[in-house]
Amino acid sequence: MARDPSPIPPEELTTTPPWQALTAHHRAIGSAHLRDLFAADPERAQRLSVEADGLLVDLSKNRVTHDTLTLLTGLARQRGLAEHIEAMFRGDRINVTEDRPVLHTALRLPRDRRLIVEGSDVVADVHRVLERAYGFARDVRRGNWLGHTDRPLSTVVNIGIGGSDLGPAMAYDALAAVRGEGLDCHFVSNIDGADIASVLARVDPETTLFVVSSKTFTTLETLTNAHTARAWLVERAGSERAVARQFVAVSTNADEVVRFGIDPANMFGFWDWVGGRYSMDSAIGLSLMIAIGPERFTELLAGFHAMDEHFRTAPFERNLPVLLGLLGIWYTNFFGAETHAVLPYAHELGRFPAYLQQLDMESNGKSVTAAGLPVAHATGPVVWGTPGTNGQHAYFQLLHQGTRLVPADFIGFARSNFPGGDHHDLLMANFFAQTEALAFGQDAPAGQPYRSFAGNRPTTTLLAERLTPFVLGQLVALYEHKVFTQGSIWGLNSFDQWGVELGKVLAGRIAPELRAAGDPALGHDGSTNRLIGWYRRHRSDTA
Ligand code: F6P
Repeated sequence: MARDPSPIPPEELTTTPPWQALTAHHRAIGSAHLRDLFAADPERAQRLSVEADGLLVDLSKNRVTHDTLTLLTGLARQRGLAEHIEAMFRGDRINVTEDRPVLHTALRLPRDRRLIVEGSDVVADVHRVLERAYGFARDVRRGNWLGHTDRPLSTVVNIGIGGSDLGPAMAYDALAAVRGEGLDCHFVSNIDGADIASVLARVDPETTLFVVSSKTFTTLETLTNAHTARAWLVERAGSERAVARQFVAVSTNADEVVRFGIDPANMFGFWDWVGGRYSMDSAIGLSLMIAIGPERFTELLAGFHAMDEHFRTAPFERNLPVLLGLLGIWYTNFFGAETHAVLPYAHELGRFPAYLQQLDMESNGKSVTAAGLPVAHATGPVVWGTPGTNGQHAYFQLLHQGTRLVPADFIGFARSNFPGGDHHDLLMANFFAQTEALAFGQDAPAGQPYRSFAGNRPTTTLLAERLTPFVLGQLVALYEHKVFTQGSIWGLNSFDQWGVELGKVLAGRIAPELRAAGDPALGHDGSTNRLIGWYRRHRSDTA
């Protein structure tokens, strides 16, 4: 019997009894101060901490009581979250607007598992591609894959954007400690020519590998950059033959890869059931695989898988992605928080917040439910952040004394990958100090109201022993499933991204207008017509 692909209850969320109970509960405890909540329960920190596979998450500095979590987990149950999780892992077509399964969790299933989806074993498919990609990565790393002058390759340029860039670029930085010497990666994404130009100026045409990463292989930015890189290489090599040696593709679209001129033998595939922003652990991670090697990439996948298992099996009360997702709903929908900060106290995680921006905002930045109805509640927050301690000397003022509630995740590690001097203890002293100050604040000395710290600013602390590939996999999967939890409860399809389409269509219409000869009639609004006119008059100077 065909299953309902979307087990989200159809009734409007805000009219459900659990939502109304949460509204009443918020009225009752919403202004309770963390000072009082801690004073009332000496065991609070222990009670509200969860550890999963070495990742400790302390939720106690959030503005919740035991009853809050009971009500929130009740809401998750009423919304069918458990069934929705099963539907995703099983391969039901839960991406209803694109009529696809959502199976990034299959990308990290161990080789000895089987998952039959619509008649075929996706685990076997995943490991077949993984083995090919690993083989290629090994060849490049060992100097066995040669450029057009028979020199080994020493530089990788990944050309992609969005999910075909942010994940590998983030992980490349995050895993700097395990990358080893001798191979550099650059990540080119922007259609602004400054991006590719700055990279091409620094790389050697004899020893550079271009990895063109694009799920669709139709993305304007990626294809424009890839054509520029290809022309640059052919010009310097004096022959098209260099492309066969020094261009590979990662895509689901073999036809377009061939049309671009890349031999399908040099293409690594994946499947339409992997969303772009959920794809860093597919062949989209090829540049990363080359940089860190197959063994470390396997550890990364194991971290993802450990969090998948936790998400699938832990009771909601001890389930990290579920709890983080529910806390986000508590702040977004009941406190009116508009943003969520992610503050890694690890310099290597500098690109993690940008990665999460796409993951969260492209997934849950929606105002129509999966059933096509307008939502009557706020959905995904603005996600932002930078590594500590830099932010402390920039915008933390607002976090401590501003008028807005900004829930924040603080991510830290017991050991540094770059030990030396006092750096790490001083970094972590700041890490602990910030969440303490935000939660508990400090009264102002008499006559100095500007020195008042009201406190009661909620944070979640995530601690692991060290930033390893395994831990990075856990963290990414944690946030993937947090986003899924929220999308399920809000009734969204977290796996499409129709909101990016209109801008693409309009840009396609405007591009020829910018270059047309004469004085073309422009059919936009008054502002856009005038701006395009101004650009046309000035562009010859800048061309
Ligand atoms: O425009 C948004 C988007 O479709 C993202 O969802 C995706 O990650 C990105 O563009 C890149 O797409 P592709 O991998 O197909 O080039």
